[in-house]
Amino acid sequence: MRRVAGPSFPLWESRGYESHFSNYVDEEERPFLHLTPLVGWMNDPNGFSYYGGRYHLFYQYNPYDTKWGPMHWGHAVTDDFIHWDYLPVAIAPDMPYDDGGGCFSGSALTLPDGKHLLMYTGVAPGGRRLDGKAVDRQVQCLAIGDGHEYQKYEDNPVIGENMLPEGCTSEHFRDPKIWQEDDGTYRCVVANLAEDELGQILLFSSEDVFHWKYEGVLLKNDGTYGRMWECPDYFELDGKQLLMLSPQDMLPVRHDFHGGNNTICFIGHVDEETGSFVPESCQTVDHGIDFYATQTTMTADGRRVMVAWMQNWDTVTSVDPDDRIFGSMIIPREISVVDDRLYQWPVRELENRRLNRVAYEGIHLDSALLSLDGIAGRCIDLNVTVRSADENNPYSEFTLWFAQDETYHSSLRYRPSKGELKVNRTRSGSRRAFKHYRKCIVGGERDELTFRLILDKKSAEFFFNDGEQTMTITIPTDQSADGISFFAEGSVLLDVEKFDLAATTTNQ
Ligand code: FRU
Repeated sequence: MRRVAGPSFPLWESRGYESHFSNYVDEEERPFLHLTPLVGWMNDPNGFSYYGGRYHLFYQYNPYDTKWGPMHWGHAVTDDFIHWDYLPVAIAPDMPYDDGGGCFSGSALTLPDGKHLLMYTGVAPGGRRLDGKAVDRQVQCLAIGDGHEYQKYEDNPVIGENMLPEGCTSEHFRDPKIWQEDDGTYRCVVANLAEDELGQILLFSSEDVFHWKYEGVLLKNDGTYGRMWECPDYFELDGKQLLMLSPQDMLPVRHDFHGGNNTICFIGHVDEETGSFVPESCQTVDHGIDFYATQTTMTADGRRVMVAWMQNWDTVTSVDPDDRIFGSMIIPREISVVDDRLYQWPVRELENRRLNRVAYEGIHLDSALLSLDGIAGRCIDLNVTVRSADENNPYSEFTLWFAQDETYHSSLRYRPSKGELKVNRTRSGSRRAFKHYRKCIVGGERDELTFRLILDKKSAEFFFNDGEQTMTITIPTDQSADGISFFAEGSVLLDVEKFDLAATTTNQ
């Protein structure tokens, strides 16, 4: 059957557009240390990989607008995960029959002949729902290149709808994550919506990346974790097998698995006999508001580093009309598994950006709002430890205010009796009726709380107790609101260490 042609957005046009209109982006609009789109819109990280001696990160990209639209792959490279050099758009939705409706998310690896392989989802008209309604269908495609220029494979798609078994829809079949096994063969996991409206992760195998075979369902949503699942990643870490993915339409479960779009991580093992994945536990990856669609890669020195989109699908309409860019990645995080929990920590390279250390130890804090000389700023790395001054008379609450002036502030509140953290941006200057706070519970010893906060202009990333929990939010607050204050109900002792974060490497 001949498929209906979709639209087409030529690569040359997007390259011309971005190289011209990126000049109009006010550099003040960009954070210091986070990757943003060259111009226009960014969502998911794609193709995160080490290639040709540098780390490549592609991203879902609509150069033409600050809204989601025709999906291209934007492209940037880095040596340290902090400083990024932009490269021209890598692929555009320019093949009407395969991907004219968008080059959706995917991944990358190095081929045996030294070429860089991109595996992505092509979206195009030509699908049909069970009730006969015409819809887009999603298929898996390849593009091969040298780290700069990429050619789409002439026999795309390599995994078409004809390879889907009974009960799968081709309307939602996307986000391939590819890897190479020790024996040289390839595997990929792809997210799919089954006809019963529940997400599942499908596994495929290949000898050569061009010919694929369906292997089975790696894991199916039992209805606990939202509906459709997106952006799967599957890898071994610290002796465990991890499946990370992003469910849509979650219902919250207390403070875990907050409502809407989420990112969760199953930790388990591979059954030796069947080769199938056996989940043992599941956790929310980040308890903040702006975090979605993770992707990981291995570094040359053996670290598993994770990136994610620092936004939230339910709030993406809140673009400032004067802005020429929208969307950002998180600061890449090193991840590990400790006692069957996922831990996250900013890449160690961030420490090369620290300067102007200011530190206080054992500051006695009672009910008054306290600010400390030299502890302020909107691009800082802040480390705080708080504990009861008198263990027989424990404090009941500790609060940090940041991005603060007379009008605005955002806050972090901790209640040690419940181990409950609450991040709140209600007074950050937002004029929208969005959800502005989230909570989570810390484990272990609860009187003492240690956290690290990375502030970079319009974002705040919290790492609690060595990375056992994280909370990530964006804030619209004007940069002049740079105050930081502390407050306690009860008596606490406070250690505070602050560094400014520099746009270029420091030697401190
Ligand atoms: C997740 C997602 C992916 C898709 C992409 C489209 O945020 O919906 O599933 O590939 O965005 O831009």
